[in-house]
Amino acid sequence: MCGIIGYNGTADATPLLLDGLQKLEYRGYDSAGIAVYDNDEIDVVKSRGKIEDLRQKIAKGHVPHGTLGIGHTRWATHGQPSDDNAHPHYSASRKFAVVHNGIIENFAERKEELLKKGYVFHSETDTEVVAMLLDENDCGDFLRTVLKTLSQLTGSFALGVLCQDEPETMICAKRSCPLLVAVSDEGNYIASDITAVLAHTRHMYKMEDDEVAVVGKDSIAFYNTDGEPIGKQLETVTWDVSAAEKGGYPHFMIKEIMEQPEAVRNTFSPRITEDGTVKLDDIDLTDDMIRGFHKINIVGCGSAYHVGLVARYVIEQLARIPVEVDLASEFRYRYPLVDEHTLTIVISQSGETADSLEALREAKRLGSRTLSVVNVVGSSIATESDDVLYTWAGPEISVATTKAYSTQLIVMDLLAIRFALATGALSPSAAAEILAEMEKLPGKIEKIFEQTDKIERIAESFTFLHHAYFIGRNIDYAVGLEASLKLKEVSYIHSEAYAGGELKHGTISLIEPGTQVVALCGCERLVDKTVSNAKELMARGAHVLGIAVEGNTDVQNIADKVIYIPETLPVLQPSLEIVPMQLLGYYTAVARKCDVDQPRNLAKSVTVE
Ligand code: F6R
Repeated sequence: MCGIIGYNGTADATPLLLDGLQKLEYRGYDSAGIAVYDNDEIDVVKSRGKIEDLRQKIAKGHVPHGTLGIGHTRWATHGQPSDDNAHPHYSASRKFAVVHNGIIENFAERKEELLKKGYVFHSETDTEVVAMLLDENDCGDFLRTVLKTLSQLTGSFALGVLCQDEPETMICAKRSCPLLVAVSDEGNYIASDITAVLAHTRHMYKMEDDEVAVVGKDSIAFYNTDGEPIGKQLETVTWDVSAAEKGGYPHFMIKEIMEQPEAVRNTFSPRITEDGTVKLDDIDLTDDMIRGFHKINIVGCGSAYHVGLVARYVIEQLARIPVEVDLASEFRYRYPLVDEHTLTIVISQSGETADSLEALREAKRLGSRTLSVVNVVGSSIATESDDVLYTWAGPEISVATTKAYSTQLIVMDLLAIRFALATGALSPSAAAEILAEMEKLPGKIEKIFEQTDKIERIAESFTFLHHAYFIGRNIDYAVGLEASLKLKEVSYIHSEAYAGGELKHGTISLIEPGTQVVALCGCERLVDKTVSNAKELMARGAHVLGIAVEGNTDVQNIADKVIYIPETLPVLQPSLEIVPMQLLGYYTAVARKCDVDQPRNLAKSVTVE
């Protein structure tokens, strides 16, 4: 995520950049910085912490003065939040300064080449590689230098660049990350979203992938990556500030649901090598260490716990290592059987959840090696665990998790494959097949979004429900628990998830005419069983919404309504199955006029027991 602003005009850039960054703070808030063209030099000031910390640093120290500058507010991916890792980054010669959103997937390879050539890096970021490449490719022509550099990058980026030889120009470019160029009476802006510049203008050019803009004080020229000029249409936005922060969506929850293809891609792609195998070089687990684990314990709270339940099926099936999954709040008090032959995996979006942190500490105390799966870089759980794998979902603002859950699933799938390769339970070619399928998940999630209107209509029929039940078996049951939580926490409809086979052992007595049931039928192997359960419920008057894989007519034959999801490998199905369930929860809450982003009594980060 992160936020970018740039200004080239007639006014003093520093206050404009700082005010713009303040508006972008919701996109990232662990460090920030600005670069201003000041007296023939690019002056960079940056600071760990919030924009207020940067303001104070500038106020206490040197205030850069100039009418051209770029700024950035960071949400850490590569490297902890720190002054050094904050953007902008200078090139080695300090001729260029760069701000960047996104993830440069081939940064490690490029960095190695640059290190061999003698470049010295001052940060752990992928962005600094872009700055160094600008020096390496410098041909005396700013645009050509940027274009050559872009051609050497893979991954996602929105970039803003200053060049010391060009006091009148900034260049920006984008691929898979939002970026716009805005026009005002006092000059031109670049911004990762319109929020940053709404105080000055509503007129903007929305940049598309692989477009580059050369932004002067009163001129803007657009090019494709071959350097050919392209024409673009100036647009006028009508959003107010709150709508702009949400990218035009009415709530953060739906914005974050819609961001899942990008979040999944960002979490997955950098961990895949060019020859299609998984590389988790952010962790220090060797094959021998993995083979030495007799058991894996997964702990988490709420949705993170639900990810653990899915992961149990995936790890046990692929790697054949026994897995236990615990609620963190239970684990810490159950005298768990954990020792040096156990790997304890703690899953947490915030990295600060009190029970998960204490569970981690308990596991460490008992001698277990620990690995965390965390979204917030530098958080307590990430810092205290032996290894950490980050989910690169970006900041999640809505209290109900969506994109963090989805990226946690991806990391756990990658871990399962890594473990399976180490134990030999999976051949490299079988692993490659799963990874190839994983690569298609973002596109398949986008396909589910085509049914958003249909799901919204189904949600309307949920508006006046008092109860809803989700049923499924195995991995579908694990998804059902999350689907049920999504519905109840935002819409306040009581809901429960049951393993289909358990219904007859008590729960079926709850069913009466009109009871709403959602039957999750993604698990190909057990779909017939779940369909039979659904039939039993319908016979007692239940209304059944089926979730089924495209082409499965059995479910259509019995259910009142069916939402179809694209086919993928059974172990990956949860990544698709959960998406319509998130949409169902969201639209039901909207229909019931609930406070979707901040449901009553809930907090985003639960830092007390
Ligand atoms: C539900 C939700 C919560 C969190 C739980 C753990 O939508 O967001 O159940 O999953 O509070 O939080 P983290 O992942 O920050 O440890």
